[in-house]
Order: sequence, then structure tokens, then C-alpha cells
Amino acid sequence: MAKLIYSAICSLDGYVADAEGNFDWSAPDDEVHRFVNDLERPIGTYLYGRRMYGVMVYWETAPTRAEEPSAMEEYAEIWQAADKIVYSRSLEKVSSAKTRIERDFDAEAVRQLKEAATRNLSVSGPTLAALALTMGLIDECHLFFSPIVVGGGTRALPDNVRVELELLDERRFGNGVVHLHYRVGS
Ligand SMILES: NC(=O)c1ccc[n+]([C@@H]2O[C@H](COP(=O)([O-])OP(=O)(O)OC[C@H]3O[C@@H](n4cnc5c(N)ncnc54)[C@H](OP(=O)(O)O)[C@@H]3O)[C@@H](O)[C@H]2O)c1
Repeated sequence: MAKLIYSAICSLDGYVADAEGNFDWSAPDDEVHRFVNDLERPIGTYLYGRRMYGVMVYWETAPTRAEEPSAMEEYAEIWQAADKIVYSRSLEKVSSAKTRIERDFDAEAVRQLKEAATRNLSVSGPTLAALALTMGLIDECHLFFSPIVVGGGTRALPDNVRVELELLDERRFGNGVVHLHYRVGS
């Protein structure tokens, strides 16, 4: 069965965006970006909350295919190659290829997606990921902690959920970001 993987770049105090909605402080540098690219390359389908899709759809028209692609050009190719499902009750149409809208994040439907998939899936947008975590659907997490405390905003991980985690790997980057890779237990 394919795995469902949650990845987020957050502040040390666990926010993906600060109280003003800014997340410019989380922008990955080249080293972090290439590492993220390697994690995302094998993913077959991205499950997005509507808000995260609205940010990530930038990659649909971002430049690709330079002779020696930058980390961003490489990522644009990876993003465009993957299938996407956007969860939303309000979105009327999508502006990327290989993308469909689902009106409900249904646990059984996601389990079936995992069973049918030949490549792993990812979920992002912390509101949607919180639901997936609560439903016991997430198999692994990749958390990237940026060297900043922002004091409030949108949390990468929700309140009122308790799960045991097994640390699978960790990495320190030159810009002070730390990556933690966990298997989600029960
Ligand atoms: N740190 C970073 O690297 C980074 C990168 C990009 C973005 N961000 C930030 O991340 C945040 C985005 O995350 P978010 O938590 O605000 O939103 P999100 O999880 O991406 O999207 C939430 C939306 O998903 C839809 N949804 C949620 N549950 C659903 C369900 N059960 N069934 C159907 N649709 C459902 C709803 O859309 P509808 O309202 O349309 O129904 C809901 O408003 C933003 O603050 C953004 O600025 C951070």
C-alpha cells in the first residue's frame, strides 16, 4: 500500500505562516530546495487543501527545463508531473493540468486511493493535514524547522491530537534549517 506523507516547513515554534499570514521566512535556499525536490520526486499524487493549492499552483507556469536546472526549475518539473487533488467546497475550477477537485475529505476514499496507488501520496495545507492526522491516514511526516520563532499564526500540527512518532532520520542544513523525518505510530 502506498504511503501518505505530510511535509511542512515551519518556524521553531511550529507555525507554517505567522499571524499576518507571512511565510517568507520559510523560503528554502538552494540546499534545502534540492533536498525537498528529492523527497517529492517519487510522489505520484499531491492532496492539497484549497489554500495551499492556491499558493502551490504558481509552479504550474514556473520556468522549467533549463540545461542545468536550478532547484526551482527542477521543482517546477516535479510539480507539473504529479497528479493533484484539491479538497474544497468553494473552488469552482482549477488552473493546473492533472488536477481534480474533491468536495469532501473522506477517510475511506483516501484509504482506497492509498491502496490503489503505485507511488506514495502527500498531503499539504495544515488544515487538511490535521484532518488526515486525526483520521489516522498519515504514515510519515517531514518537518523542516526554520531558525525563527514567530509567536503565532497557522500551526503545522493541530491541537487535540496525540500520536506517537518514531524518528527515522534527521539532517542539519547550512542555513540553520533542521529536517526531522518521522514514522507516525498510533
Ligand atoms: N511554510 C510554508 O512553506 C508555506 C507554503 C505555502 C503556504 N503556506 C501557508 O499555509 C497555509 C495554508 O494552509 P491552511 O491550513 O490555511 O489551508 P489548507 O489546509 O491548505 O486549506 C484549507 C481549505 O481546504 C478545504 N478543506 C479543508 N477540509 C476539507 C474537507 N473536509 N473537505 C473538503 N475541503 C476541505 C477548505 O476549502 P474551502 O474553504 O474552499 O471549502 C479549507 O478552507 C496558509 O497560511 C499559507 O499562507 C505556508
